[in-house]
Amino acid sequence: MQYKISPSILDVQPDQMISYVNTLIDWGVSNVHYDVMDNEFVPNKALELEKIKEIANKCKKHTMDIHLMVSDVMKYYMMYKNVGDILTFHYEAFKSKEEFFELIDQAKKDHIKIGLAINPDTDINSIFPYLKYLELVLVMSVFPGLGGQVFIEGTLERVKILKDYVLKNNLDLIIQIDGGIKAHNIKSCYDAGITLAVVGSYLVKNFSKKEIDRLTNWDKKNW
Ligand code: DX5
Ligand code: ZN
Repeated sequence: MQYKISPSILDVQPDQMISYVNTLIDWGVSNVHYDVMDNEFVPNKALELEKIKEIANKCKKHTMDIHLMVSDVMKYYMMYKNVGDILTFHYEAFKSKEEFFELIDQAKKDHIKIGLAINPDTDINSIFPYLKYLELVLVMSVFPGLGGQVFIEGTLERVKILKDYVLKNNLDLIIQIDGGIKAHNIKSCYDAGITLAVVGSYLVKNFSKKEIDRLTNWDKKNW
């Protein structure tokens, strides 16, 4: 069984990002994760729109999933809707149900795929009513805002509850996990039911084709 990763480039030096992404693609990675922060939803800044556009223009074709840790959902939707393949916003950022459906309606018109991210301290059941409108759910395994944090163990239980619901309701969804993923814990994430693992600082520190094979291909018993 081939598992998938979505490397995050948050911890890559800005002048290295293009070559990092192109190398990933050469090594067979098809998905890359781009973090955007507004210094409000989280107290930090990350990739700017111009940088993501530059990567989209200069890098070989790949699936760009954009993780928007921002408070003003509709403003950022309008800014990013023409960049990337899936735009993921935080459940906690929506001010109302109406705002969520405003986004979904607009995205449908624009043919944009939408994901929903959930923080470690938000009840996993609270997102269930919204799953059928989404392409992806991102279960945060750290509090958003920084790369290189430690994986929160309780996340696996939450992923299992979510996966159970997805299977019982026959939903077609990518389940993504983000934060603290390394070679030693990625298998338990796949086993819990995720289909796409974000790997940030671990891959930056251990950047090789062999490591990518180790993170994605468990059948070859290369662990
Ligand atoms: C954190 C970001 C992550 C981050 C992951 O808020 O959403 O995508 O880059 O980095 P690691 O894998 O180092 O935890
Ligand atoms: Zn992220």
